[in-house]
Amino acid sequence: MQFTIEVGRYSPEGTYAENAVPGKPFPAPWDRSPARRYQTYTVDLPEHAVVLDALIAIREYQDQSLAVRCACRSAICGSCAMWINGHSHLACKSKLSAFTKEGKTRVESPPSMPIIRDLVCDMKPFWDKHLAVKPWLQNKQPVPPPNEEYRVSNASMEELIQEVSCISCSACLMDCESFAVNPDFLGPQALAQAYRYAGDPRDAETKERLAEYSKPGGIWDCTHCYECVTQCPKGVAPLDQILKLRKMAVDAGFTHNAGTRHADAFAESVRESGRLNELTLMPKSVGFFNIVDQIKTLPSAFNLIRAGKLPPLIHKKIPGVNRIKTIFERVGGRFK
Ligand code: SF4
Ligand code: SF4
Ligand code: FES
Repeated sequence: MQFTIEVGRYSPEGTYAENAVPGKPFPAPWDRSPARRYQTYTVDLPEHAVVLDALIAIREYQDQSLAVRCACRSAICGSCAMWINGHSHLACKSKLSAFTKEGKTRVESPPSMPIIRDLVCDMKPFWDKHLAVKPWLQNKQPVPPPNEEYRVSNASMEELIQEVSCISCSACLMDCESFAVNPDFLGPQALAQAYRYAGDPRDAETKERLAEYSKPGGIWDCTHCYECVTQCPKGVAPLDQILKLRKMAVDAGFTHNAGTRHADAFAESVRESGRLNELTLMPKSVGFFNIVDQIKTLPSAFNLIRAGKLPPLIHKKIPGVNRIKTIFERVGGRFK
């Protein structure tokens, strides 16, 4: 079966084949990537072939200059994550026939990551974030004597199986919308690992971890775009772990931050009026007396006005708002 592959090529030396054509630049917020060129190859492979089979066939039999990173070819080492048709996937787990659109499959390095060459991106941002959450246990005292183990419940370990399944492929970070806008955001994989340790009953520093993860760039900077849940090849669902960390942080008293204020303002508005008051959401999230940060939000406010998106100045309640209050009371918890 014949497959056509369009490969995004990048050469730091600026040398390209004659048939490598420039592509459109990436739109914001993905525009950190240098310009690349696209080279089209045709490969003859069985119907069940995956994208990585095609790339290896190209490198082995057509163009030895193509740089591609891979190892296990079994969706376990995490090294072959790349953009396929505009989203991150493991090339060794992606069937070519399923990804062929309008007669071709487009493969490239993710534009949110620094690129080294062709399909090989620099994983430094990923590993820096991974290390920043201290992905190791801080032993709870007393440490069991030699030949003995910590005794913990099966349920508490089962709770962590999902995060332990992570293969550090970075597919979630490559597609994370918050990371694309803000390179300082810890990102989905690091925060999923953060939960793996903060939620471990053998860890002694849960509180210190939650304090750290509640800072700017941490758990509250996720925008719930769900890309990490959709793209993770191992079902880690990093967003779910971020939401668990948020609950742990709030329960532990780490509430003096824009993220918690934002959630509180959101819930309060819906409980009291049945709808979101967008006019007060931003000032309440930033903190009314935080004058410096209030001033920093002014450009966004002017942009909204310019775009004709200023929310109504008088915020009205919906009819029968008491029903909404009843729901809050029934659900209970922090916002009742
Ligand atoms: S849900 Fe949050 S962490 Fe996951 S990709 Fe979107 S912004 Fe990033
Ligand atoms: S959470 Fe999923 S997508 Fe992210 S690095 Fe781990 S395995 Fe890859
Ligand atoms: S080559 Fe190891 S995950 Fe694809």
